[in-house]
Amino acid sequence: MISVRGLSKRHGDRPVLVDVDVDVARGETIAVAGPSGAGKTTLLRCLNYLEPFEAGQVEIAGFTLRPGMTGAAHKDLLRRLRAKVGMVFQHFNLFPHLSALDNVALAPRVTGRLDRPLAASRAQDLLARVGLADRGRAYPHELSGGQQQRVAIARALAQDPEVMLFDEPTSALDPEMRAEVMEVIRGLAQSGMTMLIVSHEERYTTAFAHRRWLVDRTRVEEVEAIRAGSAPTP
Ligand SMILES: Nc1ncnc2c1ncn2[C@@H]1O[C@H](COP(=O)(O)OP(=O)(O)O)[C@@H](O)[C@H]1O
Ligand SMILES: [Mg+2]
Repeated sequence: MISVRGLSKRHGDRPVLVDVDVDVARGETIAVAGPSGAGKTTLLRCLNYLEPFEAGQVEIAGFTLRPGMTGAAHKDLLRRLRAKVGMVFQHFNLFPHLSALDNVALAPRVTGRLDRPLAASRAQDLLARVGLADRGRAYPHELSGGQQQRVAIARALAQDPEVMLFDEPTSALDPEMRAEVMEVIRGLAQSGMTMLIVSHEERYTTAFAHRRWLVDRTRVEEVEAIRAGSAPTP
């Protein structure tokens, strides 16, 4: 599902990732660890081309990404890529003026993939999947942080992604809300979604990740097969 070859990325004259090679099979969940500033966010952002990179190639969910794919010529491809490679951030970035249901239904509707009633009923199903069946009419400010993050996960799922990238999805949350978000992520992993999750919550990720990577000063190292032999085959 993901194959990265020779990926190199700088910020200014600082190399952040150098000649990174990694692979992820369909259905695998990788827990990504590493100190602050190591390049974890940069790695995830390269995978859906929120960050263009200088060298290497990324194959992900059927797309091939190379340096220089900016500008109008690639706009449509990158839009399709970002639907297939969903991303959930530390800060949930919900639209504050839209209800939870409309946050989830918006993208499938505006891209014309689903008509309004279908987008709404699918959004309702997704809210149920993240444990928020009864909160569709609530606005973000009426929801707890944990609930907002679960809406953000449902919103990414509404695009029918093949890969989900989580960047510290619980680190902006109070401790008592982390478990409810991690439970949703665990359910996704167990449903066979291919996922990378940057998280310091090893207590949780050990329960469902297949492998662990350490990002540190330009390198991505495989550090642990968490459940040896249990990773799905490509
Ligand atoms: N937009 C940017 N401009 C310049 N430097 C950046 C930018 N984003 C990240 N960096 C630098 O790249 C390095 C890796 O950052 P990041 O990927 O955010 O690390 P992590 O997510 O592991 O904390 C850091 O040294 C950071 O300062
Ligand atoms: Mg980061």
